[in-house]
Amino acid sequence: MNSIVVIGSVNLDLVATVKKLPEPGETVTDAVLNRFPGGKGANQALAAQQLGAAVKLVACVGDDAAADEALALLRAGDVDLSGVQTIAGSPTGTAMIAVAPSGENHIVVAPGANRDLTPDRLVVPAADALICQLEVPADSVSKAAQEFEGYFCVNLAPAMHVDVSVLQRADLIIVNEIEAAWYGDSLLAANGMIATTVGAAGATITKNGDDIAFAKPPRIEAVDTTAAGDTFTAALTVALVEGREPQQALEFACAAGAAACTKLGAQPSLPTRNVVLSLL
Ligand code: RIB
Repeated sequence: MNSIVVIGSVNLDLVATVKKLPEPGETVTDAVLNRFPGGKGANQALAAQQLGAAVKLVACVGDDAAADEALALLRAGDVDLSGVQTIAGSPTGTAMIAVAPSGENHIVVAPGANRDLTPDRLVVPAADALICQLEVPADSVSKAAQEFEGYFCVNLAPAMHVDVSVLQRADLIIVNEIEAAWYGDSLLAANGMIATTVGAAGATITKNGDDIAFAKPPRIEAVDTTAAGDTFTAALTVALVEGREPQQALEFACAAGAAACTKLGAQPSLPTRNVVLSLL
């Protein structure tokens, strides 16, 4: 079994299921409210664990009741939480999410303790692979990229400035179409693979400007697309670290991402390996 470290965010997701997503300035009522464990880092950690890796999460949570709620499914899923620090006086990260009947969403994140995962607090463990995203300080992602010696994947979500050394160091960069447009030509600095997802239209992998793989997800009835990108990120990393060819790994990741859209909530929707294999 391969070992994967995820350095990233933990959030409690407050999810309002609505008949339509609000326009700016519009009030939408009659929502149904749920609370789910989320956060891109935590979602990627649990997804990778359920897909067959031994995962350790490095993160910060607040000293509040939300922390236990946010970590509950990671704990139940046997993710190693010994790298999760509790920060006195900080609130656990919270995401406010509206989900439409089409499965599309709007997400607003209040990072809280995720901002406290600063380089001075970050110890980078050894493992076969490391996954980072951008819901923790960019300086910490730079430090992780510099110190880690194994396979390094960075999911550039949400889009924000990262040091060019992170792009140069990454074996695998993952972006959706919005993030790809935001980064534009700066992604030309990448030396490794770049996987770009375009929702139901599929995903590509390029290397040095050449397309090396393309896959489409299986058709599913979308209920909630939250965490589809996190599941894709975890699945692609797991498959590549297992030594699969990029084409086969991309098909696995697209199926995993699709599976995560079939249930409400981030972590309750993360598929097991068997579920993904049944969709291929
Ligand atoms: O990628 C989905 C995640 O983004 C949600 O779980 C939410 O917490 C935000 O971080």
